[in-house]
Amino acid sequence: MLTWSHAVLYVQNLQTMLQFYCEVLGFEVTDRGPLAEGAPEIVFLSQDPSEHHQLAMVATRQDAAPSNSVNHFAFRVAGFSELQAFHDKLKAVSGLMLNPLSHGNTLSFYFNDLEGNGIEIFWETPWHVAQPQGKPWDPSMAEAEALIWLQETFGHDPSFEPVADYQSRRRAAQGL
Ligand SMILES: [Fe+2]
Repeated sequence: MLTWSHAVLYVQNLQTMLQFYCEVLGFEVTDRGPLAEGAPEIVFLSQDPSEHHQLAMVATRQDAAPSNSVNHFAFRVAGFSELQAFHDKLKAVSGLMLNPLSHGNTLSFYFNDLEGNGIEIFWETPWHVAQPQGKPWDPSMAEAEALIWLQETFGHDPSFEPVADYQSRRRAAQGL
């Protein structure tokens, strides 16, 4: 089984990207150095002690166009209050457009980072529902309100079920 570890981004402005990813999103630099003698530097970033890096950046990007081969990277938060805290923090960053979208199995918000890379931050809801589907949601809702809204909005779908049931079916199908 492959589990996700990290992505490496080519960036234009290493300093502003590092500032954003560290100060706003909470990453720390775990290592940095030239890829080889005289070669560009790679900077490793992580928030997860079990991953040396979840992201790395190399400042070799020349074009100013938004990234066009990756739609977005997604980061999970453990709790609803953490999701709201990120939302409030990102709302304060000028020029950032936040798009709150729930897939039923997530409460997510999407935005582009300072160099146009698509980012999603999401909290996994207690439910699974077949994908793709999405509805805008109101990040000012309290957690209890959001849970009711989720059931009202996605609960009519025949595939709506507790996420634990969905995951145990997936595990059983894999013989785990
Ligand atoms: Fe996503």
